[in-house]
Amino acid sequence: TAEDGSQAWLRYAPVPNANRYHSLPLSIVALNSTKSSPVYTAGQELQKGIKGIFQEQLNVNSAGKGSSSIIVGTIDAYSKAYGDCDEFKELEDDGFYLSTEGRDVKIIGKNERGALYGAFEYLSRLAQGNFASDSYLANPHAPIRWTNEWDNMDGSIERGYGGPSIFFQNGYVADNVTRAAEYARLLASIRINGIIINNVNANVTLLSARNIEGLGRLADVMRPYGVQLGISLNFSSPQSFGGLSSYDPLDPSVDAWWTNTTNTIYKRVPDMAGYLVKANSEGQPGPLTYNRTLADGANMFARAVKPHGGVIMFRAFVYDNHINESNWKNDRANAAVEFFKDLDGKFDENVVVQIKYGPIDFQVREPASPLFSTLRNTSTSIELQVTPEYLGQNCHLVYLAPLWKEILDFDTRADNKSSKVSNIISGQRFKRPLGGSAGVVNVGTNTTWLGSHLAMSNLYAYGALAWDPSADSVDILREWIRLTFGFDEKVSDTIIEMSMKSWPAYENYSGNLGIQTLTDIIYTHFGPNPASQDGNGWGQWTRADKFSIGMDRTVKNGTGNAGQYSPEVAQRYENIETTPDNLLLWFHHVNYTQKLKSGKSVIQHFYDAHYEGAATAQTFVSLWESLKGKVDEERYNHIMFRQVFQAGHSLVWRDSINQFYHNLSEIPDEAKRVGNH
Ligand code: GCU
Repeated sequence: TAEDGSQAWLRYAPVPNANRYHSLPLSIVALNSTKSSPVYTAGQELQKGIKGIFQEQLNVNSAGKGSSSIIVGTIDAYSKAYGDCDEFKELEDDGFYLSTEGRDVKIIGKNERGALYGAFEYLSRLAQGNFASDSYLANPHAPIRWTNEWDNMDGSIERGYGGPSIFFQNGYVADNVTRAAEYARLLASIRINGIIINNVNANVTLLSARNIEGLGRLADVMRPYGVQLGISLNFSSPQSFGGLSSYDPLDPSVDAWWTNTTNTIYKRVPDMAGYLVKANSEGQPGPLTYNRTLADGANMFARAVKPHGGVIMFRAFVYDNHINESNWKNDRANAAVEFFKDLDGKFDENVVVQIKYGPIDFQVREPASPLFSTLRNTSTSIELQVTPEYLGQNCHLVYLAPLWKEILDFDTRADNKSSKVSNIISGQRFKRPLGGSAGVVNVGTNTTWLGSHLAMSNLYAYGALAWDPSADSVDILREWIRLTFGFDEKVSDTIIEMSMKSWPAYENYSGNLGIQTLTDIIYTHFGPNPASQDGNGWGQWTRADKFSIGMDRTVKNGTGNAGQYSPEVAQRYENIETTPDNLLLWFHHVNYTQKLKSGKSVIQHFYDAHYEGAATAQTFVSLWESLKGKVDEERYNHIMFRQVFQAGHSLVWRDSINQFYHNLSEIPDEAKRVGNH
């Protein structure tokens, strides 16, 4: 039904007058009849989608064709059935060719997965009322387009806001894997080809025989969608689960244990994508315990999965969470480069170092991680968060594509040459064989998947940008809105307006000028708590006192973090004059009276921005209200509830932050709003 959130953007709602504008082919030919194959899935999906959009039931065959058909298959299958065809020559893995010209619609993939992506593309066009005749090729920007899910074996999800796990229950893989299959379908439609299904803080019991069997069941229902399953590992498993006396990566018995375990898993999941590893971070075990390097650790897994074609995603999120704040040279933001710089070139070819977009932790504003331009002989990927851990946890609307694009488009100027983050992680810039993106999604059993209907634009945008980082944030939204809410222009304009204002608004009423999000950082990461940033070993410090605020990350006087960037960028961040205002307090410790480029003082900017951001959040309520009657009641009410909450919470944010810095600095607000309560 129109209200069923679990269909997300795959509703295939009837398009008004579709038949008048488009003469449909008479049948579907899916050039593979094996039920677990993505091409078979494509045939079924085309049938279902066309039924929804046109109310016409087409037959699906696996061979032959009538006078006009929708043909979907791989290049190989197509040429075997109908002879060679030049149009597909430029296709790369997972890429597709779509032609709606002539009597047949041709949807041809380099591989099966690509063919399925082409079928989803065709359906998406139809569902958006695009009946143009044309043909084109589409290839992915990068080979790795994965999600990470932080699900625990007990069914809870770390930083998940959409209910309990769809994968695990009571310590085991869930008996019912229907929802996992539905999720794989959504992921395939946005061209995601891999999924890590368990928390990076991994539980060793995932490796039990019963759970390996469960992994097999999950992989079986995702395989028809071309989504490969992978898992997070706990580094200490040989000892804590396998009963060995050590987990030293250079101990042959440990190595043999992993080889064995890996072979057992691959027996049940022959196409497993690989492993994700969080080691020596936030209390997790790792190779450093044995004075081995992180590369020694990563390569141990790489050897185990190599014969099976698997990949190791090794996280760069390694830092000491007990650092001493009284030393002004200490800086958590330096950790990734410090840990990984000397390991460049020492990782096996099937290892990818997975780097969070910024040097700290998914904050509302961070510069790109300096590690992207540091590793030249190592494949890398970017880690983004679709689950907005620090960004309102889906109780606030925060559309993330513009944030991600700022990082992906960022030119790191490695060797003084154009070196965008997007072209580094694709492998192109440093000529690496692997690379791509990992999005931490954390869907749950809630019918909205993420806990909020509007938050699904972020998942949709994640897929779109993993495939093509040059895609435009508004175009992505427009498509998603049409597919999710239909054709009403006012609905589209309104959701676009709200979404595009949402990240700047959240930044304004949470933490601005690069000071970070100012949430409570001890555990919840939700709601204002500027005092919690300092006075602990987590290293997300603001160093705010009565007179001044910000981290001095300069080389000349501070932690030296600015110097981790390539010379052009380093110079920009080293100097206050050339540091953009929105990163001023990230790189510099300044007086509250320091003037910004706008002419305002830092403190007055704080006051004003918090008022502005909260005022914008108030407008989301009336904007949404203007759509009453244009969106079905269930979704209208659900979203209204959240917008009202956000409007209220933004006032709490505004007043807490402003009051806190007013109390600290005792500098009056020029507009006399703060401090008079
Ligand atoms: C954040 C998050 C943790 C998570 C960690 C990680 O710190 O709050 O829940 O485990 O990142 O990415 O490993």
